[in-house]
Amino acid sequence: MAARGEFSSRTAFILAASGSAIGLGNIWGFPIKVASNGGGAFVFTYIILTFLLAYPILMAELVIGRYAKADTVRSMVAISSLRTRPLAAFTGYWGIVTASLILSFYAIIAGWMISHGVGSAVELVGASSNWFVTDSTARSLAFGVIFYLLTISIVANGVASGIERWSTRLMPVLILLIVLLIIYIATQPGAAEGWRVYVQPDFSKVLEPNLVLDALSQAFFSLSLGVGTMMVYGSYVSKSENLPRLGASVAAIDIGIAVMAGMLVIPAMYVAQHNGVTIYDESGNLIESGRLIFNVLPSLFETMGGAGIAVSLLFFVLMSIAALTSSISMLEVPVAYASESHSITRKKSAWLVGGFVFLMSVAIILNMGWLFDRVVQFATEFSEPLVGILFCLFVGWVWKRDQLLQEMREGSPQVEQTFFWKIWPTYVKVVCPLIVFGLLTRSFGFWEFVGQLVY
Ligand code: TRP
Repeated sequence: MAARGEFSSRTAFILAASGSAIGLGNIWGFPIKVASNGGGAFVFTYIILTFLLAYPILMAELVIGRYAKADTVRSMVAISSLRTRPLAAFTGYWGIVTASLILSFYAIIAGWMISHGVGSAVELVGASSNWFVTDSTARSLAFGVIFYLLTISIVANGVASGIERWSTRLMPVLILLIVLLIIYIATQPGAAEGWRVYVQPDFSKVLEPNLVLDALSQAFFSLSLGVGTMMVYGSYVSKSENLPRLGASVAAIDIGIAVMAGMLVIPAMYVAQHNGVTIYDESGNLIESGRLIFNVLPSLFETMGGAGIAVSLLFFVLMSIAALTSSISMLEVPVAYASESHSITRKKSAWLVGGFVFLMSVAIILNMGWLFDRVVQFATEFSEPLVGILFCLFVGWVWKRDQLLQEMREGSPQVEQTFFWKIWPTYVKVVCPLIVFGLLTRSFGFWEFVGQLVY
């Protein structure tokens, strides 16, 4: 087995883990959920749930990874008992499958982001962008290939010279682009209405069940939980780092960028509305989210004249960067396993696994109509929460408490006296599994099913 990689500094880890967390979920998913869930009320609930429920699970993944310093299958086995070992390994494998499934649809959307970016660039030089901004199998395949080549070549270079190098380069660019776009959009007519919706929470909606569930699944996906991404990233963290604090920084940055993306996309929607583009249908519901990003925003950019093309280019570059630093963290899960548990070189496993997941994407592209939504739903609404619950149950019920405490003490010797240690162990043991289970059963019509049995 080759020597394991490690992040070279605290900042490097924070940027890489934030790069994983910050993705299409923040810049696309979050603002749209805000807009369809009563504006600021959603933001409020989302922030609370991130710290109350997602952060504890993030910590579970990070601490397992850093303890075992191994790929996700071997990490899970390392904290298991003799009896639970098969389930531990199974959980690791299932995470690997889920990570690959998420990558297989995520990369397709990311490809569209790149193609819209290229479309804007093409327009900037005066040519027709039609092919790049119109949905077609050929376009999805072509830009899928480009996105996979980028993702695979970064992961092939390893932790420090691949993932870390590119995350530390791309994340500052991403933040700069968001700020520039927020400022530009804010100066446009109609933006003020969007800001009003965004910052004025309708507190009567804060506890609405749909809003709470949306906020919870958003928090889960946004922190890249439930597949082992944060576990492998945790395994590259040095023993001298204070884990609870690192995790909190990542959660805070993830929230911060989501909130900033809202300051960009929500005012932009209202500018679009001001310019005559429909964003709410007759019944007052927000139009479907794909159309919002790929039709509404582009038609908004068109109404801005010459500057619009540049703004559009920046926006899609921003989206592509956000997607890339996330997709490398998905591919890292199976690649770490292949290269560590099967002693294939990292380069080879990145290309092999990446190539295989690309073929999964091709299958989805060729069967878009019925396959895409099913893969998304199975991976994000079923697999991720379930694997997340299993991670928690292992930390809470299986892992020897003194071993866990000892690992937590590394880098934070005083951890026992902290508020964190007073509540976190119970949280991962009981509260997180129960609530996530509730979410899981709901999304699959579980209670309706039970209801039918009873009546
Ligand atoms: N968090 C990313 C986003 O918000 C997506 C992501 C990256 C992810 N790695 C993941 C989601 C692992 C689930 C699991 O877009």
